[in-house]
Amino acid sequence: MTTRTWFITGASRGIGLETARAALAAGHQVVATGRRRGDVIAALGESEALLALELDVTVPAQIAAAVDAARERFGRIDVLVNNAGYGHLGLFEQTTDADVRAQFETNVFGLFNVTRAVLPLMRAQRGGHVINLSSVAGIAGFAMAGIYCASKFAVEGFSLSLAEEVRQFGICVTIVGPGFIRTDFLDPSSFRLPDIAVPDYADMDAQLRNTYLPYNHLQPGDPVRLAQALLQLADRADPPLRFSAGSDALEMVGARLAQLGAELDAERALSASVDGQWA
Ligand SMILES: NC(=O)c1ccc[n+]([C@@H]2O[C@H](COP(=O)([O-])OP(=O)(O)OC[C@H]3O[C@@H](n4cnc5c(N)ncnc54)[C@H](OP(=O)(O)O)[C@@H]3O)[C@@H](O)[C@H]2O)c1
Repeated sequence: MTTRTWFITGASRGIGLETARAALAAGHQVVATGRRRGDVIAALGESEALLALELDVTVPAQIAAAVDAARERFGRIDVLVNNAGYGHLGLFEQTTDADVRAQFETNVFGLFNVTRAVLPLMRAQRGGHVINLSSVAGIAGFAMAGIYCASKFAVEGFSLSLAEEVRQFGICVTIVGPGFIRTDFLDPSSFRLPDIAVPDYADMDAQLRNTYLPYNHLQPGDPVRLAQALLQLADRADPPLRFSAGSDALEMVGARLAQLGAELDAERALSASVDGQWA
């Protein structure tokens, strides 16, 4: 395995932390970033191969400073893992404009801005791997998770497009779409819920609280195994553009593909009928 320099956002816990831990154990250099540097150090300790940095992905000055510090310490960034994120759950009509903007600030604009800061370094190196954490919610829609889904669909569309632009420089992009992974994602320390009650949706609101939330820390996916899979993908000469993580993800993505295929076939004639010349 080639030794690489990893730059990971949201490395204080969950998938980001396990990825940092696995990369260090495998002998890589790691820039592990988090909103509170102390949390990252408490989780990973201190070592020559580790640079722990304060980075809230919604703060552009911190992004610039973190990428500069990484360049200064290790001279390069080979693998960028855009992992920082959270889920804003709840029905759309319970969701305010501020909720939507906050969700996009972290999951979308934060990811864009970190990527924009790292790409010049990867271009100069003529190589690199951008790994963007999406979700099954970036492929399929789920009631009571519309805003989170929208943010992850944005990550998917961006990543597919970026891959086309940077391939010429030897830079690969991989979208990672986990199913349910056993982290703090469904814990009140991470997800956000609406506090607006809309009586017409009372049943669905109760369903949200009674189905997703009891799943907290009981999810089938193991973040340690996901981290090992990410290490394997980063070691490939030709990594996949999209990787589904977990058997539940395989099932949900498969169902969405089947639905898309069936809809395409069912409306094929009407779809093709739209072609025509300017009069
Ligand atoms: N777990 C799942 O089931 C699942 C499924 C699909 C996709 N994902 C995606 O996987 C990624 C990691 O989630 P996880 O499961 O590891 O969740 P987690 O255990 O809740 O960890 C989330 C991490 O993101 C960090 N974070 C949140 N907002 C941030 C910000 N503004 N700037 C920097 N860091 C920030 C958190 O930092 P703090 O410690 O400071 O809060 C934490 O380190 C997310 O993008 C999530 O959408 C997770």
